[in-house]
Amino acid sequence: MSIQKDKIRNLVDRREKALQGGGEKRIEAQHAKGKLTARERLELLLDEGSFEEYDMFVQHRCTNFGMDKQHFDGDGVVTGCGTIDGRLVYVFAQDFTVSGGSLSKTMSEKICKVMDMALKVGAPVIGLNDSGGARIQEGIDALAGYAEIFERNILASGVIPQISGIFGPCAGGAVYSPALTDFTLMVKDSSYMFLTGPAVVKSVIGEEVSQEQLGGASVHASKSGVAHFAAESEQEGIETIKRLLSFLPQNNMETAPLRPTEDSPARVDDALNEIIPDNPNKPYDMYSVIRSIADDGDFFEIHKDFAKNIIIGFAHMDGRSVGIVANQPATLAGVLDINASRKAARFVRMCDAFNIPLVTLVDVPGFLPGTQQEYGAIITNGAKLLYAYGEATVPKITVTLRKGYGGAHIVMSCKQLRGDVNYAWPSAEIAVMGADGAVNVLYAKEIKADPEHAGEIFEQKKKEYVDLFSNPYQAAQKGYIDDVIEPRNTRWRIIRALTQLEGKRAELPAKKHDNLPL
Ligand code: HXC
Repeated sequence: MSIQKDKIRNLVDRREKALQGGGEKRIEAQHAKGKLTARERLELLLDEGSFEEYDMFVQHRCTNFGMDKQHFDGDGVVTGCGTIDGRLVYVFAQDFTVSGGSLSKTMSEKICKVMDMALKVGAPVIGLNDSGGARIQEGIDALAGYAEIFERNILASGVIPQISGIFGPCAGGAVYSPALTDFTLMVKDSSYMFLTGPAVVKSVIGEEVSQEQLGGASVHASKSGVAHFAAESEQEGIETIKRLLSFLPQNNMETAPLRPTEDSPARVDDALNEIIPDNPNKPYDMYSVIRSIADDGDFFEIHKDFAKNIIIGFAHMDGRSVGIVANQPATLAGVLDINASRKAARFVRMCDAFNIPLVTLVDVPGFLPGTQQEYGAIITNGAKLLYAYGEATVPKITVTLRKGYGGAHIVMSCKQLRGDVNYAWPSAEIAVMGADGAVNVLYAKEIKADPEHAGEIFEQKKKEYVDLFSNPYQAAQKGYIDDVIEPRNTRWRIIRALTQLEGKRAELPAKKHDNLPL
């Protein structure tokens, strides 16, 4: 064999070895846990044959605890770029078969390299996490590596979409990289995230808790809101990431791709004329409205199981990607509370950062009262949503379907928060508060002074209030609402407004950065 052929054979052999990660036995162990390997995950994620791998031959430089005798090419993470539906993405997937995917300094350098490349060319970064945390043998070097990744997460924030998939353990400070990214997806029963594990929890506060109870996918998707998605399986998780990407642009200088549809932009839906119950205290399902206005009835929900009183997610409208925010009258009457406010605020800011127009559907009776909410800083948290809408410069279209009371009416993208086009249905009630509450405040003395006719007085005053305020026309007369529309026409009215707003330019005053009430 010639020297050159020998060298090529050597390359092929080295590649072959690197592809084995931590070796056959550890791959089997990974499969036995019902988990895929890093490479198998990337194979599912990326278009066939599109993966361009970097740093396959990188090895760690640690010599502590006999580590100089343990080397695996690639060092616990597979990195590179590829395409998803033909669009460029940068990826890293931690390889649990090599030292439990633990983060060495060299591993962090590999991850930082793809993050730097993604930022340079303006393409999303997708990280698939499956790691035992900082590589213990490397000590402070591993911590420095984490910090370098975090810094890049921060610099890339709002410039390129960043998506984290949690496909195994993600503990300690490692959780902060996903937390800094735009979206976190977890896989049920095989992934967990927490700052301190069950053993530490027990020793410090004496609480007995399992990994799943402490930081499993269901917990983070429903209680903490740390996870935007909880997938049933790794395969479903990867499909969800791909779908999510289809609503996002490559970077903050671009718009999301158009998705052609056969669904007519002029479609009307007579069912919407019937959807609001006669009794204002009766709920209806906001999902029906969203599906009615979206292309092909297709709605991609985010944070589905967290703060269900507000709905957020993506849809296409005449092919355009839009962010939808909607109060859900079927859960807690659609009231705004701490979790609903911060859920929606982060979504609004994400849409604004990535040039995705906002469609807001309002039916909100107000903010949730009580000590629990006040002590938990509903003031600051509600202000986040107010702030997010007020600063957003993307096209903002608001439709008030029914209630739009008090501060909650303002917060939900009202005209004075630079709402571009604000519509109301004839069923809208835009007022400082509901009729019962208003009469009790305004006529408390009269009602108390005449207990015999209290009921009559109440009903009469309530009727006066309802006639005056429980409609959209006060707001429409003052131009706070641009038009009162027939519910059946909602889809085409929003699409027409989106078309008109395509050339929208709006600026914020020059500043170093804002001071959002965190
Ligand atoms: C080095 C590690 C490692 C780590 C796992 N391994 N975690 N090596 N550093 N942090 C190695 C194991 O020695 C083993 O090597 C292989 O990975 C697989 O681990 P197992 O324990 O056999 O797997 P499993 O039973 O599935 O348990 C997985 C695990 C457990 C729950 C993640 O390994 C674990 O508790 N690891 C330690 C977690 C931890 O405390 N990390 C530090 C957190 S603090 P072999 O050679 O046998 O295959 C932290 C700070 C970050 O991360 C701060 C950022 C700012």
